[in-house]
Amino acid sequence: MKAKLQVGVLGFGTVGSGVIHILKEHQEKISQVTGYDITVKKVLVRDLEKNRRYETEGFSLTTEPLDVLDDPEIAVVVEVMGSIQTAREYILHALKAGKSVVTANKDLIALYGDELVAVAHENRCDLFYEASVAGGIPILRTIVNSLAADRIQKILGIVNGTTNYMLTQMTSENKSYEEALKEAQELGFAEADPTSDVDGIDAARKMVILTRLAFGMNVNLDDVETKGIRGISEKDIQVAYQLGYKVKLVGRAEEINNTVDVTVGPVLLPRSHPLSGVNYENNAVFVTGAAVGETMFYGPGAGELPTATSVVSDLITVAKNAKLGTTGNAFNSFVHETKNTPSDQVYSKYYFRLEMDDKTGTFLKLTKIFADAGVSFDKILQEPLDEHTATVVIITHAASRKQIDEASNAAHAEPEMRLITKYAVVEG
Ligand code: NAP
Ligand code: HSE
Repeated sequence: MKAKLQVGVLGFGTVGSGVIHILKEHQEKISQVTGYDITVKKVLVRDLEKNRRYETEGFSLTTEPLDVLDDPEIAVVVEVMGSIQTAREYILHALKAGKSVVTANKDLIALYGDELVAVAHENRCDLFYEASVAGGIPILRTIVNSLAADRIQKILGIVNGTTNYMLTQMTSENKSYEEALKEAQELGFAEADPTSDVDGIDAARKMVILTRLAFGMNVNLDDVETKGIRGISEKDIQVAYQLGYKVKLVGRAEEINNTVDVTVGPVLLPRSHPLSGVNYENNAVFVTGAAVGETMFYGPGAGELPTATSVVSDLITVAKNAKLGTTGNAFNSFVHETKNTPSDQVYSKYYFRLEMDDKTGTFLKLTKIFADAGVSFDKILQEPLDEHTATVVIITHAASRKQIDEASNAAHAEPEMRLITKYAVVEG
């Protein structure tokens, strides 16, 4: 008979249900690997009457957080309920009570990771959050352990399953934005408030976490230039495709001379780039290391069982640490002074779509604006939109963000031209 490791779970929604299912279905293997019988004792919910996906046999449901947090038999708390302040309060309570914590909550880790790590350390508890980035892909441990020997230079990530699912449905199945979002919600990929998915905030929070682990730098969310897919146009998806690109929502973090630049937004990816083949709710993190070169980690980025696999793998690590007496070591110990890259040192190619009055001299004005900012053109397309207006698409050569901002601000100020779209272009 193995020793018991009793778990309290906060939340019985998409991820919580998956955790309970996996712990039951894979019980024998988990027990062999850890040397513990890991059992769920209590699950915190909001509504006791709600129908649940799985049997509630073997544990009790409660709406009272202290039933879980103050139960002396519960050694580990799994937080899969979401929210920021309530989850923070419960996790701090659990850590101060000496319980290790596993969470899938990227919102919380991105904003309060430092505080929680410090409290876990003070109380000699584990705090793991593998599921907070890229759902079922074990990317955080890969960065922290497997790539520890390397100096990571750049990360490109499709790290939001909802928006990648939506873009795939809009591109391949001609679904509308609203239809695609509804499906992503029904499938359990979207956040309770999907604004954070479609506006790029969820991806930005994940990029903050990845940046902390990969570069040791603690970037403020406000310093991540963030754009989502709200209002994304079919026209851009089509034109990009004709030019040999796909439009994807990509998080980018790059180390430039001991500084880091982190952005999230729709970008044009060459169709031959490995990230272009990442569809539906799948995520992928493309990591470039000074020694290893280019690597890509791919898999489901959201959903019940993939996400729960990462949560349970954290639980297994907690159990192994308990067995070995190594509880309380930080998930990540790489720290570097945080400096954001100035905008005149971040270079990229850009895609512009403009609508311009179709009259003599307008194009000359446009080329002058770009030339004055020091931005040169790589490709130009022009086609009539109606009798008086032309659509102009430009792909620039690489220019600094400062130069690109100068050119776009100047174009914006001209009454003859309307800047519709500006996306970075990833080079293949
Ligand atoms: P969900 O389906 O909305 O489930 C949330 C669960 O938490 C529900 O069971 C709810 O109770 C319970 N809950 C919420 N607030 C509560 C409160 N104040 N008191 C008590 N119970 C409360 O959410 P989810 O999709 O599983 O996501 C959970 C967490 O995992 C979030 O932080 C999310 O960002 C993260 N995550 C999700 C995914 C994914 O694919 N869904 C992937 C990675 C990470 P009731 O059932 O009674 O309403
Ligand atoms: N809403 C998130 C997504 C869940 O769609 O990626 C996984 O973190």
